[in-house]
Amino acid sequence: MKNLIDQLYLEHILSKDDILFLLNNLTKIEDVDYLHKKARDASQIYYDDNVYMRGLIEFTNYCKNDCLYCGIRHSNKFASRYRLSELEILECCEEGSRLGYKTFVLQGGEDPYYNDDRILSMIKLIKESYPDNAITLSFGEKSYESYKKYYDAGVDRYLLRHETYSKSLYENLHPNMSFENRIECLKNLKTIGYQVGAGFMVGLPGQTNEDFVEDLFFLKELSPHMVGIGPFIPQKDTPLANKEKGTLEKTCILLSIIRLMLPKVLLPATTALGSINPKGRELGLKSGANVVMPNLSPVNVRDKYALYDGKICTGDEAAHCRQCIEKRIESAGFKVDMSRGDHFDRR
Ligand code: SAM
Ligand code: FES
Repeated sequence: MKNLIDQLYLEHILSKDDILFLLNNLTKIEDVDYLHKKARDASQIYYDDNVYMRGLIEFTNYCKNDCLYCGIRHSNKFASRYRLSELEILECCEEGSRLGYKTFVLQGGEDPYYNDDRILSMIKLIKESYPDNAITLSFGEKSYESYKKYYDAGVDRYLLRHETYSKSLYENLHPNMSFENRIECLKNLKTIGYQVGAGFMVGLPGQTNEDFVEDLFFLKELSPHMVGIGPFIPQKDTPLANKEKGTLEKTCILLSIIRLMLPKVLLPATTALGSINPKGRELGLKSGANVVMPNLSPVNVRDKYALYDGKICTGDEAAHCRQCIEKRIESAGFKVDMSRGDHFDRR
């Protein structure tokens, strides 16, 4: 086992069979600890012990799509819908800037109200007020032309998880969406010049280790600047309400393998990971993650962006995320880095 981990650390690639072997047989604590340790070593080579902070603004929970796992899916009649105005978004940025954030991540459901003109107007306003900040958009599938317009207006990065590289699983989970189009979008984003984030969920119903091997090799080929992975967590008003959630252990193993395959990647310890275990984000960082995205959305809408049950940082404590997460990062032995935190090759 250790030989394979060492080989992955040195060469950043193994055969598909060997990756599958790792996923099937990483059961002993000492092997798993060794994997996490090598992943952290790999992260330190490029990023030291730095953890890059992004301020997340969830600007709309309207969505035209119907992903089976997602609490803000169009068919969920129990979702209490909101959409932030330009002014409210700017207020979030102002608060974020006051707290020292140099990256704003604007995420939303695929909300047709936010057409290209409105997105462009929002970007222009943010850029005018915060010209030195990086803007990340995570707003789903758009045409090449729309992505190009956002980029030309100043959006630096785009997050679009591929969700799973199993075409059959993807199609089962995403009615009226196309696997091919999702992948095409990621390729377009790269061609345009964005720092691109792909990624997948861990523990989707029916997902196998063979599927993860395909996810990992797709990521290796795409070579994105960021990879977002997190456990699938059921949401009570979705068709997957009664399914099992993904595990902390499997997510952390996959985080480490991703770090070893793509050593320079920016890798968040996600909110979903922190939601399945109180120490989830710290354990993610110890497995090779190096980004955290505290929530900057107005406190009164946070519980409405309910992608899954038990989401952290939505209650009374939410106004203090910055201090809370900083303390956690530092006590876990890392350094909070408030710079833009661009990918190593884009500095
Ligand atoms: N609409 C954009 C998109 O499609 O990329 C961004 C918003 S979408 C809600 C953000 C991410 O939430 C998805 O990429 C998905 O991986 C994650 N997500 C949604 N439902 C989830 C669940 N039940 N458990 C864990 N993650 C979930
Ligand atoms: Fe939000 Fe701790 S990070 S409450």
